[in-house]
Amino acid sequence: MFPSAASSLAGFLTLTLTLTLTLIVIISVPSQVSAAIIPSHDRNSHDHVSQDPLPDRCRQVATPTDPSSFPQVGTPAWAAAYPSFSPDSNAMPQPWKDALNTAIQAGKIPNFPPSVQNAPGTSPSYPSLNPSSPQVCSATSGCRIAGQVWDPPQGVLALSFDDGPLPPSDKLYAFLQQNQVKATHFFIGVNIIQNWKEFNLAFQTNQDDIAVHTWTHPYMTTLSNADVVAQLGWTLQVIYNSTGGRLARFWRPPYGDTDARVTAIAKEVFGLTTVVWNRDTADWTLGLPGGTSPQAIQANFQNWLSGPRTPGLMILEHELSPGSVQAFMTAFPLIKQSNWTIKSVAELDGQGAYQNVENATGQPTPVSITAGGNGGAGLISPTSSSSSSTQSRLSITSSSSQTSSSASAAPNNGVKKSSGTPRLHASHLTLSAYALALTVTLCLI
Ligand SMILES: *[C@@H]1O[C@H](CO)[C@@H](O)[C@H](O)[C@H]1NC(C)=O
Ligand SMILES: *[C@@H]1O[C@H](CO)[C@@H](O)[C@H](O)[C@H]1NC(C)=O
Ligand SMILES: *[C@@H]1O[C@H](CO)[C@@H](O)[C@H](O)[C@H]1NC(C)=O
Repeated sequence: MFPSAASSLAGFLTLTLTLTLTLIVIISVPSQVSAAIIPSHDRNSHDHVSQDPLPDRCRQVATPTDPSSFPQVGTPAWAAAYPSFSPDSNAMPQPWKDALNTAIQAGKIPNFPPSVQNAPGTSPSYPSLNPSSPQVCSATSGCRIAGQVWDPPQGVLALSFDDGPLPPSDKLYAFLQQNQVKATHFFIGVNIIQNWKEFNLAFQTNQDDIAVHTWTHPYMTTLSNADVVAQLGWTLQVIYNSTGGRLARFWRPPYGDTDARVTAIAKEVFGLTTVVWNRDTADWTLGLPGGTSPQAIQANFQNWLSGPRTPGLMILEHELSPGSVQAFMTAFPLIKQSNWTIKSVAELDGQGAYQNVENATGQPTPVSITAGGNGGAGLISPTSSSSSSTQSRLSITSSSSQTSSSASAAPNNGVKKSSGTPRLHASHLTLSAYALALTVTLCLI
């Protein structure tokens, strides 16, 4: 049952080395750590994925339904299996490359060059293509693609938060739980690795819906096909391996930056449904020069909540800062008073947050990460199994090149949310390192 003395020693040395290297990396190169989550630097680093499993006795039940087959969330073995920074698509698992090639060969992925960004934090552009054309259909230009989710049904406020998990998430989760409200969290992969305790709170304690917000929050339309796959795949993988095997069904593009190519890759390789929004609090600009104010956010909520009930409200909110969390908490009584039905994004069409199980309870079907895609086994998906009922209930966009009617519906109006990227706190990194060290020590005892 226990490893022999020799393999224990080998395991100990491996662990010690891993931990030491981890600490050295964290302590000595904070600028590289930051670079990993700053979109403009995103494509340039080439980290490597190391596989460095712990002895079996360090694996344990991670969720109420987990048959103990996954490393425990927060342990070095868990963290070591993922890219530390921007994922290198050359080093991603072969099945993801194969699934991309299958989709390309089947003619499922529109073939046009990635967008380009002329300066950090500005909207990407397509030098020789019309972003509003059916061919490109950039969400940044307000163009909607069939199957994307922008509008909830009448009278429904779809609740979601982007960019977590982060330290300010703690207060949000306590508030949501206290008020018995479910939300969908569009999580950033590197933030899951750094803030795994908050991740566990969201999934295990609140049993909220976990969705994909990419690995390092880049402008996705600027990436190659393979880099799009790596960004989505690693985030799906860490959610899968940290939730007892749940394959997320929804993703939201950072900055709302997606187009026909990126949306198709998400769908055809991973079975992911793209979620955008139709109202923007701009809460990510709180505290920035020229940013919004708590008063302005509340005034917006007043207008939206007393305005038309069709379509429902898909409001962009963040768990990025104490201020953005507080903005939601302040608006909450108003939401309740105005008789909107609050649902998580994943509850909208009744098919649940995951492709292989409905929610945080229940037993997920073991599947590969690419099982929901075109080349995979074909899991339940909103477009294949019950598209008619989905269409009637959810107003999934049904024609391409449909331009959004309301100015607030376009994800990117003018100023870019370059500061929408998560901030990394040195103190938090240090805490995480201590937590990792403690876990290793406990495993070895
Ligand atoms: C995810 O979990 C599976 C099953 O335990 C394991 O085989 C795989 O190596 C894990 N992947 C990562 C990236 O940890
Ligand atoms: C609240 O909404 C429900 C349906 O969503 C409706 O039946 C009810 O009359 C509304 N109540 C008020 C006070 O508007
Ligand atoms: C979770 O899904 C199961 C079916 O798989 C359902 O019976 C249950 O009501 C759901 N729970 C929540 C909180 O939605």
